[in-house]
Amino acid sequence: MNATQMVVNQRKMKVFGFIFLLGMIVLVFYEAFVDTESVELHSLSSKHNHQLNNDVKSSKNERNNNYDESIITNNEINELEDAKYRINVLEERLHQLEIAVENRIAKKFPTVKFLNYKNRRRILITGGAGFVGSHLVDRLMLEGHEVIVLDNYFTGRKRNVEHWLGHQNFELVHHDIVRPVYLEVDEIYHLASPASPPHYMHNPVKTLKTNTIGTINMLGLAKRVGAKVLIASTSEVYGDPKVHPQSETYWGHVNPIGPRACYDEGKRVAETLSYAYMHQEGVEVRVARIFNTFGPRMHMNDGRVVSNFILQALQNDSITIYGNGEQTRSFQYVSDLVDGLVALMASNYTQPINIGNPEEHTIEEFAVIINDLIGGKSKIIKLAAVEDDPQRRKPDIHRAKIYLNWEPKVLLTDGLKKTIAYFAKELKRTKHSQKDTTRIPYINDHDIIDQL
Ligand SMILES: NC(=O)c1ccc[n+]([C@@H]2O[C@H](COP(=O)([O-])OP(=O)(O)OC[C@H]3O[C@@H](n4cnc5c(N)ncnc54)[C@H](O)[C@@H]3O)[C@@H](O)[C@H]2O)c1
Repeated sequence: MNATQMVVNQRKMKVFGFIFLLGMIVLVFYEAFVDTESVELHSLSSKHNHQLNNDVKSSKNERNNNYDESIITNNEINELEDAKYRINVLEERLHQLEIAVENRIAKKFPTVKFLNYKNRRRILITGGAGFVGSHLVDRLMLEGHEVIVLDNYFTGRKRNVEHWLGHQNFELVHHDIVRPVYLEVDEIYHLASPASPPHYMHNPVKTLKTNTIGTINMLGLAKRVGAKVLIASTSEVYGDPKVHPQSETYWGHVNPIGPRACYDEGKRVAETLSYAYMHQEGVEVRVARIFNTFGPRMHMNDGRVVSNFILQALQNDSITIYGNGEQTRSFQYVSDLVDGLVALMASNYTQPINIGNPEEHTIEEFAVIINDLIGGKSKIIKLAAVEDDPQRRKPDIHRAKIYLNWEPKVLLTDGLKKTIAYFAKELKRTKHSQKDTTRIPYINDHDIIDQL
């Protein structure tokens, strides 16, 4: 080796040494960079997620094993971290929503009795959203039974039973009983029918269909499933009676083509159908001949004596009597009627039975009693009598006393006070609602949607 070659070799060695030193420096810097980043990641992940911390650590180990892939892995980790953070935020929001739903104030129902499977009955009430039906619903629900209401809301309303909506033992079905229905039930209280003259005269053909075809549908259902069925008949089957008081053996005095015939004859056919199904098909039937009934939830504008008089007196209008006021009525309070219906269903008695209060008053006496209870400011005036208005009405309730051990308990004035209080509240509600309507700022559906 000559001197020139030795110099070249020395230079090469220096260059190699320099490159090696440079590589080491780059390596040290790289290590320092990766460590800083992992510390940052660690602090971030401990803030949001412990799991992420583990992921980052394991990612770092992988990177230590393969430096070429480390830049890609860092990006992935960043994305993963970001995604996990967002998931955490969403999970937290979901958790808060779940708590909010769980803590929502649960609807409070009246406390019902617990009945075991053997004693609990499935009970259908047609017309259960009406005046009498809704009180019967209350009674049977409180006793712990399962209640299904079928109603077409012709004269009934959801508000009468809204306090049971959502209860596990209660079901409300919008259904017209003129159409057949298929249900599994143990008992049927068949109450669906308009009951006051303006309502049943509004559509006489429909009133007849409801009481004939509707009753056949209910009796057919009872036959199919072996249910007991109670038919809500009426004192109107006695028409304008020639016998006083009216006992169940009296056949009645009905004008078959008069304005009230759709109801009176409809109910008479309903009774006839019941006994035909009993004798021919073995259906267990109960027939309640219900006399005039009053109480809270009765229709404010049904044109009947009690509601007319209370409404007129509460508004200081004249109290109007149709005819000379000497015609008589006997009114029972609704809770007495419900007692009677439940007792009849539970009994073995299959003949028709009167359920009513025998305490008889002239219409004029009623007007005076109601006027006095409210404050006595209204004048009492007499107008022309209405066609086919029965002159005397008073039930003979011997059968009910003997076979059901039932008689009315509520005093007329006590019942009237409760009914007056109900009507006063309803009047206030109506006035309030009317005021609200005038204040509503909505012009069209878009306004409403915006407010929702
Ligand atoms: N309230 C009384 O003084 C009285 C007296 C005698 C008999 N009754 C009888 O008692 C029953 C209940 O009377 P109320 O005073 O509660 O009357 P109501 O009008 O308050 O109730 C009758 C219910 O039957 C529903 N209905 C009517 N036609 C229907 C149909 N085709 N399908 C489904 N639902 C229908 C109505 O929407 C209403 O909810 C009636 O059958 C009535 O004839 C009542």
